[in-house]
Amino acid sequence: MEKTRYLTFALGKGRLAKKTLELFERIGITCEEMKDKDTRKLIFVNEDQRFRFFLSKGPDVPAYVEYGAADIGIVGEDTILEENRKIHEVLDLGFGRCRMCVCGPKDAAKLLQHHELIRVASKYPHIAKDYFYNKKHQTVEIIKLNGSIELAPIVGLSEVIVDIVETGSTLRENGLEVLEEICPLSARMVVNPVSMKMEHSRITKLITDLKKELVLQGV
Ligand code: PRP
Repeated sequence: MEKTRYLTFALGKGRLAKKTLELFERIGITCEEMKDKDTRKLIFVNEDQRFRFFLSKGPDVPAYVEYGAADIGIVGEDTILEENRKIHEVLDLGFGRCRMCVCGPKDAAKLLQHHELIRVASKYPHIAKDYFYNKKHQTVEIIKLNGSIELAPIVGLSEVIVDIVETGSTLRENGLEVLEEICPLSARMVVNPVSMKMEHSRITKLITDLKKELVLQGV
């Protein structure tokens, strides 16, 4: 008899993957291979349940899912908005909660109010562009950076930044503050549109089980 096809998951590396695996364990989906911290393997398999898991950089998860290399992805809403790919967002997993904000020194607030032509540094140029051009109707210059975004206004690269704020401690420790809130964020489950049709019953059961578990957790 032909074996059931693997259902493949792409998980964003780091805290999201850890939280995802904890949640999956509670609904009976396990992957013992992934618990070995010293492993250099890239793909992990649960033969009995016919699941495969791989870890990738968070921003790459939507591409794996759009092209069907993964059926399902777990990724932050920030990445989904930034990447804007053809994937179905099916579930808010409730963890990884944070906010996308415009931040800067206190006195940059007036530059925002007066719609000045300012520089905006961000790891999220599309989100920043959409916010300033389409929502605020403010012309700005966007500078793409890859990390430590808070540095930009401190060293004079930009007047403000668009970045994730979780606890707010990075801002506080660097004399910056939230000037405007763009949107709340959390971890999401995304699905390849073809997989959603071809593997409908397995994926629907997974979503139902996860929803029940999230209700039990009070999410
Ligand atoms: C993220 C984000 C902020 C920080 C916010 O950075 O870009 O810098 O976390 O968290 P907080 O409000 O709890 O201080 P990350 O740690 O992902 O590193 P990065 O600077 O390389 O983007």
